[in-house]
Amino acid sequence: MEHRALSRLAAPAVAALLALTTACTGGTVHGRPGASGLRDPYFPKAGNGGYQVEHYELDLDYDPGDGLLHGTAVITSRAEQGLSSFNLDLSGLKVEGVTVQGAGARYNRTGNELTVRPAEDLEKGEVFVTEVDYSGRPKALTDADGAKEGWITTEDGAVGVGEPVGSMTWFPGNHHPSDKATYDITITVPKGYEAVSNGELRARTTQADGRTAFAWHSPEPMASYLATAVVGKYRVATGRTPSGVALYDAVAPGEAAASAGDLARVPEMVEWGAGRFGPYPFSTAGAIVLPAGTLAYALETQTRPVFSGAPGSEDLVLHELAHQWFGNSVSPKSWKDMWLNEGFATYAEWLWAEDHGGVSAQKRFEAFLAGDTEVDEGADSDWDAFPPAAPPGPEHISGNPVYFRGAMVLHRIRQEVGDEKFFALVRGWAAEHRHGNASTADFTAYAERQTGHDLKKVWDVWLYGKDSPR
Ligand code: TRP
Ligand code: ZN
Repeated sequence: MEHRALSRLAAPAVAALLALTTACTGGTVHGRPGASGLRDPYFPKAGNGGYQVEHYELDLDYDPGDGLLHGTAVITSRAEQGLSSFNLDLSGLKVEGVTVQGAGARYNRTGNELTVRPAEDLEKGEVFVTEVDYSGRPKALTDADGAKEGWITTEDGAVGVGEPVGSMTWFPGNHHPSDKATYDITITVPKGYEAVSNGELRARTTQADGRTAFAWHSPEPMASYLATAVVGKYRVATGRTPSGVALYDAVAPGEAAASAGDLARVPEMVEWGAGRFGPYPFSTAGAIVLPAGTLAYALETQTRPVFSGAPGSEDLVLHELAHQWFGNSVSPKSWKDMWLNEGFATYAEWLWAEDHGGVSAQKRFEAFLAGDTEVDEGADSDWDAFPPAAPPGPEHISGNPVYFRGAMVLHRIRQEVGDEKFFALVRGWAAEHRHGNASTADFTAYAERQTGHDLKKVWDVWLYGKDSPR
């Protein structure tokens, strides 16, 4: 701003000019506020506009004794517009301080929105670092569908899980699957405890006070709902798959015996998945078995799914592993696209069975149409209650039709195009959007382009049709 020239103007003119300058130009005022949500059709306030995160560095200090979490989130982002302020999603906890580019920033909180006003506006294209210091006892959320997510305590520790919007209970971020980033998650715990997260364990350091810091690194992009942090007493086992993917399993001691058989098949499943879907997308794999009863579900947390107690079924382990390709590497653009996660992971179970002496996918497809629970327990569920690509509300994004009818969509494509084109399509899809995001429209266009078939009837009846396809 040119200050010297102003002295020649009369006072009212100066005031008017200043107001104008503040509104649209000037050294510190290039920006406007970033949007407080990304208008996801099911979770409109999830995520934030005006920037994309490139990297999260989370330093979490957790004491299972008192349940207190102290966190520092160092978030590297790129501004997609000039920003005078921007939001992060954060639920509960106390914010102790925020800096942007090393300078103290003003902030305020309303609901799950943390609004940060940097000392200086950010310019479009600028890469900037935000640091948020926070603490407190994180509170889990209860979903629209009644499932609990977020930070959940166990008898001797805790687990952070995110799908769909629980990650904001344990770290501030741009919590929408369309904004994927790399992560470094370091968890410091009292002596005798383990801390497990996604990716590769880079360091395990015992500090002067006897506590241990576990530094986990995720080099591949990750949607924030797939981040996890687990603290407690765990038995750790490491190894490698035949093709060299590093394995790290952490199992609650009480579940070790019951989990052993299912977990032993993970290396073989990784290789099978690579054969069917293309190269395993991550450098590490494994599993986390929580104490039984911690969660009402398993979750495909990136590289290292969490199971609530021993998986108890080969299918469940395979399902979570299949998500590493479908959901984790190829992530949904919005929560409306959940069937691209669950339909594929369910169909992967059908393929695994088919390839391992079990019932064929065709037979399973027919069993669903006939409601035959001898072949599949899900067959008499409400699998046909709504179209998988348009769940009637946020409480339905993990509903049976998203899983089963979603899998049936894929089988219908296979019926239309034949095995050769179908498997080329599945592999091509995983390759086309590897480490990216995709929508249902991306999929239908890709499927028709790749196979050369007009699949409109499949989309109309199976994917979008309100009526039961039976
Ligand atoms: N996505 C998980 C899976 O398919 C299941 C899941 C996670 C879930 N969170 C949920 C199901 C909440 C219902 C409600 O493995
Ligand atoms: Zn799933």
